[in-house]
Amino acid sequence: MIRFNPQTKVLHLTNGKMSYVVYVNDYGYLETLYFGAPLTDADDIHCLRRSAEWHDSSFYYDKKSGKEYRHSDCYMSNTAPQELSAHAAMDKRYAPLVIRQADGGYLTDFRYVSHTVLDGVPDVPGMPHARGGDCQTVDFLLCDGYGLQLHYYLSIYNDKNILLKSMLLVNDTPHTVHLLRAMSLQLDLPDAQWEWTHFCGRWQKERDLVRAPLIDGVQSISSNRARSSHEENPFVYFSRRGAGPTAGEAIGLNLIYSGNFACRVEVTNYGATHITYGISDEDFDWVLASGQRFHTPQAVVAYSADGEDGMSQAMHDFIKQNLVNRRLDDKTKPILFNSWEGCFFDFDTQRVLSYIDDGRTIGMEMFVLDDGWFGARNDDTAGLGDWRVNTDKVDLKRVVAHCRQCGIQVGIWFEPEMINYRSDLFRAHPEYALTGNADQASCIRHQFHLDMANPAVVDEVYRQLSAFFDEYHPDYIKWDYNRIVCEHYSSALPAERQGEVYHRLTLGYYHLLERITAHYPDLFIEGCASGGGRFDLGTLYYAPQIWASDESDPAQRMEINYTTSLGYPLSTIGAHVNASPVANYRTKAILALFGTYGYEMNPNRLTQEDREALNEVADVYHRYHKDVVENGTLYHLKNPYLGNFMSMQCVSRDRNTSLVVIINRKKELDRFRYLKLQGLDDDKLYHNDYENAVHTGEYYRKIGINYSREWLDEFSCRLIVLKAVDANE
Ligand code: GLA
Repeated sequence: MIRFNPQTKVLHLTNGKMSYVVYVNDYGYLETLYFGAPLTDADDIHCLRRSAEWHDSSFYYDKKSGKEYRHSDCYMSNTAPQELSAHAAMDKRYAPLVIRQADGGYLTDFRYVSHTVLDGVPDVPGMPHARGGDCQTVDFLLCDGYGLQLHYYLSIYNDKNILLKSMLLVNDTPHTVHLLRAMSLQLDLPDAQWEWTHFCGRWQKERDLVRAPLIDGVQSISSNRARSSHEENPFVYFSRRGAGPTAGEAIGLNLIYSGNFACRVEVTNYGATHITYGISDEDFDWVLASGQRFHTPQAVVAYSADGEDGMSQAMHDFIKQNLVNRRLDDKTKPILFNSWEGCFFDFDTQRVLSYIDDGRTIGMEMFVLDDGWFGARNDDTAGLGDWRVNTDKVDLKRVVAHCRQCGIQVGIWFEPEMINYRSDLFRAHPEYALTGNADQASCIRHQFHLDMANPAVVDEVYRQLSAFFDEYHPDYIKWDYNRIVCEHYSSALPAERQGEVYHRLTLGYYHLLERITAHYPDLFIEGCASGGGRFDLGTLYYAPQIWASDESDPAQRMEINYTTSLGYPLSTIGAHVNASPVANYRTKAILALFGTYGYEMNPNRLTQEDREALNEVADVYHRYHKDVVENGTLYHLKNPYLGNFMSMQCVSRDRNTSLVVIINRKKELDRFRYLKLQGLDDDKLYHNDYENAVHTGEYYRKIGINYSREWLDEFSCRLIVLKAVDANE
């Protein structure tokens, strides 16, 4: 609900569980008065602000009258928390927008003109965005002295603690301007008593959790690799000092975008927190000619007054209900078998058929042929760009027919945005590759990035992919992306537009995905980028799940899945059982169950005991995964970064069924241990199959499951199923 009081000029966005309050001051700046637990009367806050006395910066000189004035409104231009700091003005905080104007100056100073309240949330053309839902948006119209118009959109969801922020710049002046920074969000918080958590990493160790108190000055994360990256994930959160999963305030941020991003957090010399977040401004220079508009991606803000799990659940609900493609996501997902770790590039038709037959003995319902089926691809030095079946290597028609006969769905691997120099496409069109303008070009995994800023390239890739889809009708594709962009120079763009390349590469990715999802609406896409190098909300809009990491060793994977699930629902986290010797198949399967669940090993080598363990967990998958894991609520019970154990719990929406996983890394003999659960109804009775006992929800919450007397070897993994029972049963 959005209330505006024209007397006080206070706008109160609230959904009964949180409030966000903005004041339109006498000078047309939007001051952020409050963000936090719900308020009944926002006008009180306004009075508090007026009584605050600050020194300096409240004066201005008026050129026309030649006089100096004090701001009439207690306005402190460089300290007041704001929605949008001006640039090249008295406010020296880092501004979300910087424009080089037609006169060469950098003044970027937008003032309020009017606002309207809209139902829903405006789409962002050409980019992934929230798919509406039960929400309202304030569309602030602001204008600068040059006549540029800015729509600043601020949305609030009624059914979840989510805000969205984004901007649309409209150039209706006769001049061309340069956008040098175009971020989506400024968030000013009036204190700095926060810790922030971000997720850095590398190949096979994605989203490694880093938590640190905010310090005076600047701390930031970013990507300049043209993808959201292994190195930093766009999801970050802020917790009140001392907050944990069940207590304390938490604010989560993410961006519906897959390219370069930057999140900059500054603790000012006045002790406030000033956050800006959006597309990175590194080498960014967008030419906005007369009549053109520029949309920023949407930034997502999640809030919880009582614990980090509340924040992460709000993010999960938003992603599941308002971002992913529900046409695909709502379907019951088949158990997927992927060929990669089983045979890598080394396969022929017989081997593939044997994988399908053996995969069926462990419950496989979809077979995915990974890399190596096309062009001259027998290793990673050739073939990318030539999306024709290598019929000398594999008879794909026969493979598909065999799957169909067995009632198995079919999936296939692509890496659409890439090209090997050893490919027909490169030989015909070397200019399609981003090789830069020097004599040497970086070559990563023997491949180049395609110039997705060039519409002819997007057309060509679409032509090849759609020809394949029309002939083979796959149910699923794995969309991989195995290198970063280094030479961001596009020969398809003029010199003055080279500052647009990074963003245009991301727009090209989205454009290709738009065309494919529009023409093949039932094709399920799983994202991937050398494991989890492009795990972001932009990709999730098109691909409801993303391969989280090439690391499936359970010791590492339990951490990767745990940290990823702080910002993303388990239903999006691609997780497979592989042949890692670190733990047995049952343990590995239980861990994969707290993700999408699938297999990736040589199935010819499985023993009877392995098959039985996998079938047992496949049965749990069919019984509970959809309701409890995919659509349920997730609780983080034990953080593996803080001790020997990792534990997560999923509870179905009706709170009748719950699955709990608990696993330890190191051996531990008997010791007092109680696993306190969350999310159950206090007065319902639940049976748990670990103790084979019945307790109330309150008992599980306050006392917990007693597992003190167990001798736990390394990687002892328990899956506990709780079911509500009738008191008379
Ligand atoms: C990437 C992916 C793997 C696999 C290979 C194939 O590394 O993350 O899962 O598909 O590419 O080359």
